[in-house]
Amino acid sequence: MKVLVVGGGGREHAIVWALSKSPKVKELYCAPGNGGIASLATCVPIKATDVDAMVDWCAAHEMDFVVVAPDDPLALGMVDALEAKGIPAFGPRKNAAVIEASKVFSKGLMAKYHIPTARYETFTELEPALDYIRRQGAPIVVKADGLALGKGVVVAQTVSEAEEAARSMMADGKFGAAGSKVVIEECMTGPEVTVLCFADGEHLVPMPSSRDHKRALDGDRGPNTGGMGAISPAPGYSPEVARRCMEEIFLPTMAALKAEGRPFQGVLYFGLMLTPDGPKVVEYNARFGDPECQAVLSLLDTDLMDIFLACHDGTLDKLEIRWKASAACCLVLASGGYPGHYQTGYPITGLKEAGETAVVFHAGTKRAEDGRILTSGGRVLGVTAVGPELKSAITCAYHSAKHISFTDLHFRTDIGRT
Ligand code: AMP
Ligand code: GLY
Repeated sequence: MKVLVVGGGGREHAIVWALSKSPKVKELYCAPGNGGIASLATCVPIKATDVDAMVDWCAAHEMDFVVVAPDDPLALGMVDALEAKGIPAFGPRKNAAVIEASKVFSKGLMAKYHIPTARYETFTELEPALDYIRRQGAPIVVKADGLALGKGVVVAQTVSEAEEAARSMMADGKFGAAGSKVVIEECMTGPEVTVLCFADGEHLVPMPSSRDHKRALDGDRGPNTGGMGAISPAPGYSPEVARRCMEEIFLPTMAALKAEGRPFQGVLYFGLMLTPDGPKVVEYNARFGDPECQAVLSLLDTDLMDIFLACHDGTLDKLEIRWKASAACCLVLASGGYPGHYQTGYPITGLKEAGETAVVFHAGTKRAEDGRILTSGGRVLGVTAVGPELKSAITCAYHSAKHISFTDLHFRTDIGRT
C-alpha cells in the first residue's frame, strides 16, 4: 500500500516508525514530515492544514490510505475531503472531530449523556462571565472554546486571575475566534491520566494508559506547553479504575457520538482526572496525544496498519491488539524559551549515541543541505525508552538523552516522578 501520514511532529514520527514496520506498507510518505521522519518516509512539502493541496496530491499520487494525525486538519474536514475523492483515511470526520475543536460542544455532549465532568457554564459575553467568576470564587478554570494549541486553559487560583483570563480571551481577542466563547468550570483535583482509544465508529479499544506533563518546568510549574514528556502506563490507573472509565466514560461517549449522528473513527483521547468522586473527563481530543503517542506506540506489538484498516472498516472488534508487558517513557527535549519565544536553527549532536538505547523521535527538526540535523521548533526531540517497569524506562530515557546537545536545550528533570 501507498500510505501518507499528515503532520510533522513527534507523534507523526512515532506513527511513521510503527507503520514502517508493517509488511503491508510498501511506500510511506509524510507531509510535511521533519528531519527525523525523512529517514523512514518521503517527506512532501505540504502544510498539514492545506486541505485542498493535500487532497490533490493524494489523488495525483494514488495514495491507498491517509492517516490524518493533527487536530487542525481534522477540524477543517480533511478526512471528509479525502473521502469525497474516494481516498480512505484514518481519523474522525469534521462532525466528530468537533469533540476536540469545541469545548462548548464537548461539555454539552457530556451534560446531555451524563458523562462525569467538571460543572460548568458557557459564556459569550464578558460581563456575565465575570459575574459568574465572582459568585463561584477561586480556584476556578477558564477555557477558550476553540483550538488554542493547549494554551487556552487557565487554572486560576484567585478571582482576579480568573477575571484577567476571561478578559484576555473575550475582550482582548488573545485567541481570536477560539476565545469568543468561553467555558468556565469547577476546578477538579486528583491525578491526571490520558487514555487513548482506537475507535471504528461503533467499537472502542483502549490503549495502555499514559500521563503527560504539560507544564514547562519541574514540579509542574511554569506555563502550559504541548507536553514535556509522557509515561505509560500511568500510576494509579488500576484495573478497577479502568473498568469504571470504560463503563462510565468511554462507552457512553462512543454511544453518544453515534446517537448524535457523529460516529467517531480514529483515536479518541480521554484526558481524565481521578477525583475523590471518581474519574471525570477533563478534555477530549480527536487524535493521538503528543507526546503520549510516542510512549504508547513504543509498547505496541500489533501491526499498526492492521489497526488503522480495522478502524476504517468498522472491524475493530475482530482484531486482537497486543501490547508489550513493559513500560515506556518519552522525555521531550525542547528549545530554551518554549512555549514562549525561542531561537531555532541550532545543530543537534549525539543523536546516534542516544539512539543506541532509546528511540529518538523528532518533533521540531529539519535536515540541512549538508545532512546536519537542526532545531526547527519548540519541542525538538522525544527520547523514548522502554523498560520492564516504569523506573527503568525513565532511567533509560534520561541516560540516553545525556548524549544529545544543542544550544539552549531545555528539559524537565522529573518526568514520571511527579
Ligand atoms: P485541557 O487543555 O482542557 O486539557 O486543560 C489543560 C490542563 O489544565 C489539564 O491537563 C489540567 O491539568 C488543567 N485543567 C483543565 N480543566 C481543569 C479542571 N476543571 N480542573 C482542574 N484542572 C483542570
Ligand atoms: N499531550 C496533550 C495533547 O496532545 O493534547
